[in-house]
Amino acid sequence: MLLQVSDLAIRSRSGGVRILDGVDLQLGAGEVLGLVGESGCGKSMTCYAIADLLPAGLVRAGGSVRFDGVDMGSLDEPARRRLRGGRIAMIFQDPTSHLNPVHRVGTYLEGALKRHRGLSGTDARMEAIRLLERVGISDAKRRMNAYPHEFSGGMNQRLMIAHALACEPDLLIADEPTTALDVTTQAQILDLIETVRAETGMAILIVSHDLGVIARLADRAAVMHCGRIVETAPVEALFDRPAHPYTSALIGCMPTVDPDDCDPPRPIRGSVPSLADLPGGCHFHPRCDRRMPACGLARPPLAALADGQSSACFNPVPTW
Ligand SMILES: Nc1ncnc2c1ncn2[C@@H]1O[C@H](COP(=O)(O)OP(=O)(O)OP(=O)(O)O)[C@@H](O)[C@H]1O
Ligand SMILES: [Mg+2]
Repeated sequence: MLLQVSDLAIRSRSGGVRILDGVDLQLGAGEVLGLVGESGCGKSMTCYAIADLLPAGLVRAGGSVRFDGVDMGSLDEPARRRLRGGRIAMIFQDPTSHLNPVHRVGTYLEGALKRHRGLSGTDARMEAIRLLERVGISDAKRRMNAYPHEFSGGMNQRLMIAHALACEPDLLIADEPTTALDVTTQAQILDLIETVRAETGMAILIVSHDLGVIARLADRAAVMHCGRIVETAPVEALFDRPAHPYTSALIGCMPTVDPDDCDPPRPIRGSVPSLADLPGGCHFHPRCDRRMPACGLARPPLAALADGQSSACFNPVPTW
């Protein structure tokens, strides 16, 4: 297993609010895992915890992240830094805010090539130009001298992907890589991620609240609700026969362009509870049509169903 996240817990430093609560995720070499869930459920914090980039206000409260068999918690900071940006690369929803505005595009890429691949001088410059061309930036030689503010949002996302590729990572973490982009650019960036994956064979953890993006790119998906994974399955199974009522409700919210499907999207009733005041047991039970008395009393464990599907529910939707 390339990435093994076990029982990961994250709390806020002040107040001890539980942000992630016993998160388990596995990702094999070359596999694409999609992480979905409503806003605020902890998708980004899961990515940050894996990449060891948690914001200052949050702390690890338990669990482990193993990368290629090594517990990242056992490494010192220089070793973790080599891994991050080297074997693990990350791209973000809003590329512009993660790019240094005073660094030219070329400097940014050459820096990564120097740090992680030991290239310098003409070699680094040639490789940076090749990477820009590879991610579809035209007139790459001239654009090496540009600043990020001279690039469009789509070009900056391409630049971040080029930066990630510069390191030849085994794992790319992509947190909402297309959400800030218009639909045409979004489709181009998804095409690019697919191409890069086919060429390099790297594993990808992709986060999106757009189930269409996950259906297109991922082999498997994990559904997150209030800091917990509530379901995980191969992507076709997840969409065709979701077992957790929350997954089923999320899919029901999705607008469809299928002319034979006349059902309007059904919003999930109620609202996402505050992490500071979560209902006991299964956190979804107050909004769930299938709740039983036990659901408010105990936390349902993630239990294996058939064919690689697991669901954390005492009364799952029948999947046969
Ligand atoms: N620095 C921080 N200090 C305290 N709480 C935080 C901090 N950053 C995020 N949170 C809280 O952590 C929870 C999970 O946030 P996260 O950003 O992971 O959600 P998300 O699933 O990525 O949502 P979105 O789809 O909107 O990006 C949220 O309730 C958020 O308020
Ligand atoms: Mg997020």
